Amino acid sequence: MTTAAGRPVRLDDAELLGIEELRDLQLRRLQWTLKHAYENVPIYRRKFDEARVHPEDCRSLEDLTRFPYTTKHDLRETYPFGMFAVPRTQLRRIHASSGTTGKPTVVGYTEADVDTWAEVVARSIRAAGGDPGQLVHVSYGYGLFTGGLGAHYGAERLGCTVVPASGGMTARQVQLITDFRPGIIMVTPSYMLTLLDEFERQGIDPRASSLEVGIFGAEPWTEEMRTEIEARAGIDAVDIYGLSEVIGPGVAQECVATKDGLHIWEDHFYPEVIDPFEGRALPEGEHGELLFTSLTKQAMPVIRYRTRDLTRLLPGTARPAMRRMEKVTGRSDDMIILRGVNVFPTQVEELLLRTDGLAPHFQLVLSTRNRSDHMTVRVEARPGCPSERRGDAATELASLIKEHVGVTAEVDVVDPETLERSLGKVRRIVDERAS
Ligand code: DLL
Repeated sequence: MTTAAGRPVRLDDAELLGIEELRDLQLRRLQWTLKHAYENVPIYRRKFDEARVHPEDCRSLEDLTRFPYTTKHDLRETYPFGMFAVPRTQLRRIHASSGTTGKPTVVGYTEADVDTWAEVVARSIRAAGGDPGQLVHVSYGYGLFTGGLGAHYGAERLGCTVVPASGGMTARQVQLITDFRPGIIMVTPSYMLTLLDEFERQGIDPRASSLEVGIFGAEPWTEEMRTEIEARAGIDAVDIYGLSEVIGPGVAQECVATKDGLHIWEDHFYPEVIDPFEGRALPEGEHGELLFTSLTKQAMPVIRYRTRDLTRLLPGTARPAMRRMEKVTGRSDDMIILRGVNVFPTQVEELLLRTDGLAPHFQLVLSTRNRSDHMTVRVEARPGCPSERRGDAATELASLIKEHVGVTAEVDVVDPETLERSLGKVRRIVDERAS
């Protein structure tokens, strides 16, 4: 197997495991994790006892379904350090995500966890086509968010040279990319669009830049967005997935050679998919909510953590034993229920990128009209889109939404560069409904 640039993709020992060896390893690690959580984290002990299960009841991987879920609520309830299975002095790092309301979600890492994390991110960069010695420009935010430092340690572990640009100061980032000549950029897809606009604003053709690969994640993005970014930047765009509760970036990664969904690094993270309403386990191939159980984490083991991300599991391809997850279409939290119909921002992204004259900068504005919910898609015209075209583009998008999503939406095409630009994770939904 080769990268897009024709270099061979190297695989490590775990990636080469056969399915039976992998399942054995997972079972051993799962048994350790359950015991470690039960013995050291009071909330796990309480929940296992209430569910009348004991770590010793886990004799096969299937037995995991007998154990209770972990939710964000459990993390809030034990804020700040109640989920940790080791004394505070053994933690080497703390990260936190702000969430929309209330207290942040806190996660912690021992030295070995930081090491595991660097390892899975290094493996991810390799799967994306990265090689030791390459220059990696990291525009994920550095700080409590896991994106920046997670990407950073992984790139260093692979043997790359890292430029820790973080998010923001967009004009300067373009200058750094032009002058330092990185081969790889790690950034949210929405901030990549902001960077591409800035290249063009400065009169520089981004396709002529040194960039070969973009490793994009931290928010949902569509195949249409991949096409858009690849065409405008002249790179391979691949998907990286992760969440702080499970470790951060590097839980799963798309391989540049196949671009067919993300291989889950199953030697460290055990996936399941369930029906989000009934909690029933779903077979491979069916869409539902993704769950993860950590297999090696010391500081904060998670058991059947409910990610709220919607996807499905598929058999391995580029790594035969490691299952893939399909690109995440959205989070159950981001789902808009409009007059009874479920709408995800990614569905609108997909359709507007198919409409001539519309740029991929958009917001979904929810309001109340005549006591019922109303959605306006506020979307920028592409620079140079003739003003006569805007009305037709709005009509076309509205009818595509009606046809494919099944809801009536108003489309408001605004001037280029008028919507707020993303510096990290983009905010698509503006909720102006009377509460
Ligand atoms: O976003 C970790 C990360 C950083 C992943 C950089 C990839 C790159 P959190 O801030 O805890 O962690 O947010 C996790 O972001 O549950 C998903 O809803 C969403 N998410 C992350 N990666 C993807 C992706 C980081 N590739 C939440 N596609 C997750 C879709 C993603 N959604």
